[in-house]
Amino acid sequence: MNIFFTRKIPQKGIQLLEEAGHTLTIHSETLALTKAELINLAKQHDAVLSVGGNQLDANFFEQCKHLKCIALMSVGYDNVDINAASLYKVPVSNTSGVLSKATSDVAFLLMLAVSRNAFNMHKKIEQGNWKGFEPTADLGIELYGKTLGIFGLGRIGIELAKKAKAAYEMKIIYHNRKRNIETENLLDAEYVSFDELLKQSDVISVHTNLSDETKDIFDQTAFKKMKPSALFINTARGAVHNEKDLIDALQNKTIWGAGLDVTNPEPMDKNNPLLNLPNVCVLPHIGSATVETRDQMALMAARNIIAALNNQKMPQVINK
Ligand code: DGY
Repeated sequence: MNIFFTRKIPQKGIQLLEEAGHTLTIHSETLALTKAELINLAKQHDAVLSVGGNQLDANFFEQCKHLKCIALMSVGYDNVDINAASLYKVPVSNTSGVLSKATSDVAFLLMLAVSRNAFNMHKKIEQGNWKGFEPTADLGIELYGKTLGIFGLGRIGIELAKKAKAAYEMKIIYHNRKRNIETENLLDAEYVSFDELLKQSDVISVHTNLSDETKDIFDQTAFKKMKPSALFINTARGAVHNEKDLIDALQNKTIWGAGLDVTNPEPMDKNNPLLNLPNVCVLPHIGSATVETRDQMALMAARNIIAALNNQKMPQVINK
């Protein structure tokens, strides 16, 4: 059968699909396809492997209801209208599970980098402003024994909590829509209200999905409730924080610093004021970007397509 890839994926996934006898068309350009281009291409194929934030809305599914499946190469699916996919009986799968360790590593990397102002220190040397060792300058904040507040304690949040407990003896508190007693017991974590998460955390790390409920939830009101020494880390989706309010909070020293692997929009404009603020580290959405993890994601997406094209249930189907 014919499969359209919205981007090139690691060779392992391509090979698996080719060995299964499928014909692949790969859109290799970095420029994202427009909605109309994607619909047009999807119409000529039996399945789509979608990478990144292609907007797969109700109109897409209405026009592409012939598709045997959509396999996303991501865990997040906020860009997909799952109800519409179900209405038109198009199964959609994601790559949940395989990227939790790599993404939580980036959250940890940002926590450390922001707590020690690492990126700004790099810039200081680069710009010729480091004049020598100073006992009272460039001081960071230690993470040992501090409170880590996780907003959205799912697979990625759990991996982060494990590292924070094992390496830094951090206290774990979390806020989810629902309590999860099993996870609480596993991590010795405490469930708190959103307000308490804001008030008690030394570091807040965002691991929620993006929805109407979570969009812009970290706004001026939320930042004002955080400690002035707190770090805000987001490796989930950029639209969960309000960028303007975050910039204000950092400029006014309402919070200590921020580490972002996700922004809204992506890519971030190179003149964005966040890039010139001290105590801010911004990365270009590299949470899952390791050789090992991307291979696993590609293989998982390929296996999902192979299942659907064999009229079997996709192992990671979202709309059951
Ligand atoms: C994911 O898997 O959701 C990553 O953020 C890449 O989109």
